[in-house]
Amino acid sequence: MSFINENFLELQDSYLFSTIAKKVAKFIEENPNKKVIKLGIGDVTRPIVPACQDAMHKAINEMGTKEGFKGYGPEQGYEFLRKAIVKNDYKARGVEIAEDEVFVSDGAKCDCGNIVDIFGKDNKVAITDPVYPVYLDTNIMSGRKITYLPVTAENNFVPQLPKEKVDMIYLCFPNNPTGTVLTKEELKKWVNYAKKNQSIILYDAAYEAFITEKEIPHSIYEVEGAKEVAIEFKSYSKTAGFTGIRCAYVVIPKDLKGYTKEGKEVSLNQLWNRRTCTKFNGVSYIVQKAAEATYSENGKQQIQENINYYLENAKIIKQGLEEAGFTCYGGVNSPYVWLQVPDKMTSWEFFDELLQKANVVGTPGSGFGKHGEGYFRLTAFGTKENTIEAIQRIKNRL
Ligand code: MLT
Repeated sequence: MSFINENFLELQDSYLFSTIAKKVAKFIEENPNKKVIKLGIGDVTRPIVPACQDAMHKAINEMGTKEGFKGYGPEQGYEFLRKAIVKNDYKARGVEIAEDEVFVSDGAKCDCGNIVDIFGKDNKVAITDPVYPVYLDTNIMSGRKITYLPVTAENNFVPQLPKEKVDMIYLCFPNNPTGTVLTKEELKKWVNYAKKNQSIILYDAAYEAFITEKEIPHSIYEVEGAKEVAIEFKSYSKTAGFTGIRCAYVVIPKDLKGYTKEGKEVSLNQLWNRRTCTKFNGVSYIVQKAAEATYSENGKQQIQENINYYLENAKIIKQGLEEAGFTCYGGVNSPYVWLQVPDKMTSWEFFDELLQKANVVGTPGSGFGKHGEGYFRLTAFGTKENTIEAIQRIKNRL
């Protein structure tokens, strides 16, 4: 008899975005003549930027030659990419990160999910509510105790420090799903808390490229002392159009320590390296070459154009809905607009109404947690034409 991991039975039946995809597929099957506009899952619509396309073509050609062929690469990522990350994403912002503190991966979702491997089951975990479901589900799968930190309009979407001591804290800023940000002062409070309690902050910065306000930190390491307490996740998905290509990275500073039950210090960087070498054979050379090209002059410019395009969509959503009387948050430093559901409807009722009457797909706030009830998320990752049409349809839906 093979026994299962019973923690899985504690999960909701289906992953949020799979549930939505199923509902939408059913609607389309029953209404084949309706044009459905999907502003639900944060999947990009702009093609891979030309600089990355060129880099991939070159890499394929190189791999097709005897001299240029490469088999298994370094599990942690090629040196050329780790160097480019350190220089462009950190040094350029005055943050010192060493190349061997960067681990290139096949996606921030995987990293956020896999990181739990190196932490003990008895850690108490704090997550914001509403939250990107991966942090919650992966900790339920491993049987950890969760403390929820509400983030709602009442606290201006700023999570408050937990009253009880927690060991692992997930923070995502710019936030998915609310689209809101934390100032450096607010982030500093978390770094101080983590230092005091020997906790680890798992900081998801997948959306940092969308920050438009100067004073908002792009990396948690911009806060002094954060290298002693924080792991940071970054992604190429939403900037260079890599949702289908898959490439991201995680930073685990060498100063970062975990503890055995006896209180002995252990390097988290070493543990993650050990895990990576055992369970991963690295991201393909071709994809890493594409990721490197995001840092070329052309690459940077093309990515900025993508970001501006999506931010313009966010503005269209936010302004359009505000004109129609909705209360909206986010959308300024983020591709997500978080709106208050009208007429005391639940978020799923509003989801159904938009699908049926406007043929627009969004994400119900309660899918991200209890405190997401009464809210709804729209993404700016659609095309501009569809975004304009979707907002018009939402306004005219009755
Ligand atoms: C989202 O819609 O929240 C994201 O696209 C999900 C993801 O990046 O995995």
